[in-house]
Amino acid sequence: MIVFYLVLVTSAIIAVGSRAEAEVVLAKDMNYKLSSNDLMPLVGFGTYQIQGYDLIRDVLDKALASGYRLIDTAKVYRNEEDIGRALKELLPKYNLTRKDIWITTKLSPDDQGPSAYKALQESVKKLDTDYVDLYLIHWPGAYKTNASNTNNSRLRDESWKLMVQGVKDGLTKNIGVSNYLVRHLEQLLANDHGIKPAVNQVEWHPHYHPEDLLEYCRKNNILLQAYSSLGGSGNTDLIKDPKVVEIAKKLGKSPAQVLLRWALQQNLAIIPKARSKHHIEENIDLNFNIPEEDMQTLNSFSTNKYSWDPATIV
Ligand SMILES: NC(=O)c1ccc[n+]([C@@H]2O[C@H](COP(=O)([O-])OP(=O)(O)OC[C@H]3O[C@@H](n4cnc5c(N)ncnc54)[C@H](OP(=O)(O)O)[C@@H]3O)[C@@H](O)[C@H]2O)c1
Ligand SMILES: *[C@@H]1O[C@H](CO)[C@@H](O)[C@H](O)[C@H]1NC(C)=O
Ligand SMILES: *[C@@H]1O[C@H](CO)[C@@H](O)[C@H](O)[C@H]1NC(C)=O
Ligand SMILES: *[C@@H]1O[C@H](CO)[C@@H](O)[C@H](O)[C@H]1NC(C)=O
Repeated sequence: MIVFYLVLVTSAIIAVGSRAEAEVVLAKDMNYKLSSNDLMPLVGFGTYQIQGYDLIRDVLDKALASGYRLIDTAKVYRNEEDIGRALKELLPKYNLTRKDIWITTKLSPDDQGPSAYKALQESVKKLDTDYVDLYLIHWPGAYKTNASNTNNSRLRDESWKLMVQGVKDGLTKNIGVSNYLVRHLEQLLANDHGIKPAVNQVEWHPHYHPEDLLEYCRKNNILLQAYSSLGGSGNTDLIKDPKVVEIAKKLGKSPAQVLLRWALQQNLAIIPKARSKHHIEENIDLNFNIPEEDMQTLNSFSTNKYSWDPATIV
């Protein structure tokens, strides 16, 4: 019975892309059920390089108005405090409470190891809340540690153990990782201290989508959350790619919407970042279908990685 129910839930999520208009679940309402049974919104709002109270308040106001309910931050983004303060002010405006939104933050590479628990406590405090919904190891390596040094794997194992404790103590509802390759995940799953990673947040877009990683994540019930879906700040190679532009024209959508829908249609989570109202709104307005032939075209590009690369971290 439970298995049957799970199959139903899974197929309901998978069917979203192909439903008839009347039954369509809007992108803002699409969720993924993690192993904790928490429903994580598939579309979230990225906040890298969005700093300063006025700017944060302004973009979060627009994001909440547009229907975003997941906010992605990290200690290294240096905006946790401003996000906490802005949410205190904005949630009542939208009749929302803490439990209506999802906050993800991340363990900085310089807290990797014994400091991980304290770092989680500090992030929760900066965000002016009692818990975060998801805490990720930002990077498989440790600060100032040579990539080939086996201390990297020892320290991130130590981090994980303390994050498991953080779940038990109610500081975070879920734990996961970011920028992990298959081999990093294999190491973690061999010694997960009782909780497996719920999410792996990685660079993922038509120019860079290592399928072995997705396959491994799916097999192990780890949700892949794509970052830099638009190519990242200051990079227009992806958004101006002629193949993307052509498909966007054909479908009457923007290139950004095509790039985001491409990921969503494969049941991946996304966290686009934007500042303008227009971009913020269109990045969650994703209820259209990319035909199979265009999906194939978007999947056929050569590898071109734009963000930091964990390949050398042991
Ligand atoms: N775990 C990690 O290591 C890691 C690494 C990178 C990112 N991330 C997370 O993922 C989030 C997203 O990634 P990202 O910030 O690298 O970049 P991104 O979402 O790929 O792209 C953001 C850039 O695209 C522009 N943009 C946004 N919407 C647009 C639209 N509809 N049309 C045209 N341009 C648009 C933005 O401009 P404006 O801002 O000027 O609107 C910005 O320059 C980050 O904010 C962060 O939360 C995580
Ligand atoms: C919030 O709730 C109040 C009282 O129920 C209602 O009057 C108001 O319209 C709501 N505002 C929004 C933005 O939903
Ligand atoms: C890191 O280790 C490698 C292999 O031992 C070595 O060749 C390299 O010089 C080291 N890099 C630094 C910055 O110490
Ligand atoms: C690993 O870390 C330990 C403890 O800090 C240190 O004593 C050791 O020298 C490190 N090992 C390497 C190979 O750097």
